[in-house]
Amino acid sequence: MLAGSCRRLFRRQFRQVEKDDISQETATELHSAKLRSEFPSMVKKTNNYQIILSSLLYKSPRTFHPLFSPIMPIEIPKGNSLKDLFSLKDKVVVVTGASGPRGIGLEAARGCAEMGGNIAITYFSRREGAEANAKALQEEYGIKAKAYKCDTSKWNEVQELVANVIADFGKIDSFIANAGRTADAGVLDGSVEDWENIIQADLNSVFYCAKAVGPHFKEHGKGSFVITASMSGHIVNYPQEQTSYNVAKAGCIHMARSLANEWRDFARVNSISPGYIDTGLSDFVDEETQQGWNRLIPMGRSSDPKELKAAYVYFASDASTYTTGADLRIDGGYICR
Ligand SMILES: NC(=O)c1ccc[n+]([C@@H]2O[C@H](COP(=O)([O-])OP(=O)(O)OC[C@H]3O[C@@H](n4cnc5c(N)ncnc54)[C@H](OP(=O)(O)O)[C@@H]3O)[C@@H](O)[C@H]2O)c1
Repeated sequence: MLAGSCRRLFRRQFRQVEKDDISQETATELHSAKLRSEFPSMVKKTNNYQIILSSLLYKSPRTFHPLFSPIMPIEIPKGNSLKDLFSLKDKVVVVTGASGPRGIGLEAARGCAEMGGNIAITYFSRREGAEANAKALQEEYGIKAKAYKCDTSKWNEVQELVANVIADFGKIDSFIANAGRTADAGVLDGSVEDWENIIQADLNSVFYCAKAVGPHFKEHGKGSFVITASMSGHIVNYPQEQTSYNVAKAGCIHMARSLANEWRDFARVNSISPGYIDTGLSDFVDEETQQGWNRLIPMGRSSDPKELKAAYVYFASDASTYTTGADLRIDGGYICR
């Protein structure tokens, strides 16, 4: 009860700062006095009710802080038309893992290039594929595009990638952490090394990307970070055994939410959870099992990767300036069952 009353007092305090144009200190003093009169037994031990509340409601000064400092919300965009809001003209978008001929990364890059963005894509093993994709993006959409080699499971390589893109393009507006690989064994069949490789490639790599680009977003006061998670972060695929992948993708979804809080003053963070997408990633799985998957999808089929690209443009652009910490499932209804 005390906590609820205190929260209400905080809100009133902030509204008063805005409405009456009084200083934060004056508002705090006015409301301290009110709190002292409403909860004398709790407050008489100290004159500073903020200290009481911080120990009651919040664990650390970092989380306590926002209630007492001016909030710096991400701005409302200037444009009104959908064309303006979705435009990525003069923006720079990084897409990791866009070396495949029909991958999700390539479609995300295509969507962003179509809306005018300059694009940096990465590859791990398929250099020729990535370079061909960058060339095609340039020619088709008249934007600047470049392919970079980056093993996203290595912190130093991700740091280098971010530095190189900023050197070549001048800035980064949106970063799509998409690179990843699938698991082909469960906990008992796979080795410890198999587990570690998947967690490294699908979860820690995303953390490296966030840690490398986050300071740039903070310095510029804006940015959008988008993570390719998976429906496997929500449900357990059947019948294939891939616990490491499922765990890594669940971590990605929660990383997006957690970062949305950490970066609330300067950048947005969201995730996309695709279902079965026909990119070649699962080509090693036998035809019969893949047919079985389709029977579990309410829409009865897997997705063409182009059915995802609008979602990446939405999160990367000003169309989504009030969207953060969200996860968008694009799975033909798989999770609704
Ligand atoms: N396809 C699906 O059904 C599905 C469903 C849900 C989520 N996803 C996720 O979507 C993302 C893209 O996959 P996709 O289906 O589009 O397959 P894809 O075309 O094979 O893309 C995977 C990309 O990740 C890159 N990559 C893998 N390990 C890497 C590493 N250690 N360092 C840097 N890059 C690495 C690959 O690079 P190289 O090819 O150059 O080695 C490739 O460009 C992945 O995160 C995947 O988990 C896919």
